Amino acid sequence: MSALDVATIKRDFPIFGREVNGKRLVYLDSAASAQKPVQVLDAMDDAYRNHYANIHRGVYTIAEEATAAFEDARRKVARFVNAPAAHEIVFTRNATESINLVAYSWARANLKPGDAVVLSHMEHHANVVPWHILAAERGIELRWIPMTPDFRLDLSDLGSLLDGARLLAISAMSNVLGTINDIRPLADAAHAHGALILVDACQFVPHVATDVQHWDADFVAFSSHKILGPTGIGVLWSRTEILEAMPPFLGGGEMIRDVRLDGFTTNDLPWKFEAGTPAIVEAVGFGAAIDYITAIGMDAVRAHERLVTRYALESLRDRFDDSLTIYGPTDVDVRGGAVSFLFDGIHAHDISQVLDEDAVCVRAGHHCAKPLMRQLGVPATTRASFYVYNDEADVDALIEALEKAQKFFAV
Ligand SMILES: Cc1ncc(COP(=O)(O)O)c(C=O)c1O
Repeated sequence: MSALDVATIKRDFPIFGREVNGKRLVYLDSAASAQKPVQVLDAMDDAYRNHYANIHRGVYTIAEEATAAFEDARRKVARFVNAPAAHEIVFTRNATESINLVAYSWARANLKPGDAVVLSHMEHHANVVPWHILAAERGIELRWIPMTPDFRLDLSDLGSLLDGARLLAISAMSNVLGTINDIRPLADAAHAHGALILVDACQFVPHVATDVQHWDADFVAFSSHKILGPTGIGVLWSRTEILEAMPPFLGGGEMIRDVRLDGFTTNDLPWKFEAGTPAIVEAVGFGAAIDYITAIGMDAVRAHERLVTRYALESLRDRFDDSLTIYGPTDVDVRGGAVSFLFDGIHAHDISQVLDEDAVCVRAGHHCAKPLMRQLGVPATTRASFYVYNDEADVDALIEALEKAQKFFAV
């Protein structure tokens, strides 16, 4: 039934060899962070054991090997999202830092009081708070694209929202609702109004083949750790001419060409935005993660996600009917695998605690999307999310554990 051989994939992930509370581990929290295959762990281990030195500065063999491995990872990331050039891939700490980089560098250089930034109601805090900070500091106006009752963007007023806007900053896939937003028409609309578009692709890139050129995006942000790679490294992609015109973000080593008593000049792209010693070994692990997911094939990854998500949506509905509310589109063509729900009368945190007794890991809370929670009128939801190592048996385990929780709380 599945597009993937999940049993074989699962064997690549050491963590699935352990038990939790005496039970098989059922990990349904990949939207928060994905587990790591042995290929990533081995690549990082090898980098530390055999090729470790600081990069770019050394002229000795192992420093050159470390530099080559780091820059090789950058080329892999560029190919993975079809970036025209590897120097357009800026390594950051995570997607949050990537968005902040745009807010601190591009936006502070280009926006003036009264300019508008357009966001949506379904944004993660990483794509809300940097703009609130900027609004407070610079008198920028924030405008919000609302949602339809079926959890899609309500674009009926997009023209007036974009009128006078300088930036549309929008998620490609909601981490709460799973909603996939069609970026190309949004990019076209932003450009038609003279605005740039920043895409928060943190949830999208791990699950759907990504082509930044097809999107015609201006900035794209994502993190390694949600794509089976290590924490501590993320990406900001932008076009060469935009990055070249932007002032530097953090100052220090690596981002300079020259420093004098009376000033400094900046390095070439992408190092202009990579101050200090970067996440060298994490980049190697990130490259290995991209190799791993590319070998599976992004079309198969997406096809598998649709199957598992459809099975989860149908199973939850069939089993719990009206006692459970799902927040997100029901059509798997327009959604990813983050499934948020609310049980009548049981708090999300209580559910996740009971599920943990059966080693079923789900997330409970506001999912760093409090404006969205307010729109939904709920303080928190329970969220199950799927990746390449999940299958229908994991969904069944979720349903069984939820049945237990329902009995426990006697709803
Ligand atoms: C949609 C979205 N944007 C941004 C982020 C922030 O990612 P990170 O914590 O890796 O910076 C997340 C993380 O959950 C996310 O889901």
